Amino acid sequence: MSQSPARRTVLRGAALAGAAGFGLAACSPEGSGNDASAVPTAPVDLGAAAEVPVGGAKLYREDRLVVSQPAKGEFKCFSAKCTHSGCILTEVERQQGTCPCHGSRFDVTTGEVIQGPASKPLPEVPVKAKAGKLIAG
Ligand code: FES
Repeated sequence: MSQSPARRTVLRGAALAGAAGFGLAACSPEGSGNDASAVPTAPVDLGAAAEVPVGGAKLYREDRLVVSQPAKGEFKCFSAKCTHSGCILTEVERQQGTCPCHGSRFDVTTGEVIQGPASKPLPEVPVKAKAGKLIAG
């Protein structure tokens, strides 16, 4: 027994909708902006504060953090985990961090998105300079 063309069309449409739904689920976990794993749960010693240039930033990839120093002695720290799908930023140039996975760019002095697909800012992490060392978390 053969199926009517209309039924085949409906089934094919359902299969495509299912595939599209899967693709969206795999590609858009935008909720990760509130991801608790993006920020350290204990203080992290990042070493010498002098390694972060004034007007620039430094990426601490192993610690999944990025620290900027917009003005002398003023440090800002953010999770380096992209809020799009969770890749770790690989590049920081001046005050912009770039995600290697889909090209999102973030302002590492505010955490704000400069270029998508990410739409949520990087979570801020407390940081302080103590005896010349940066402590985050
Ligand atoms: Fe997609 Fe970063 S994970 S842009």
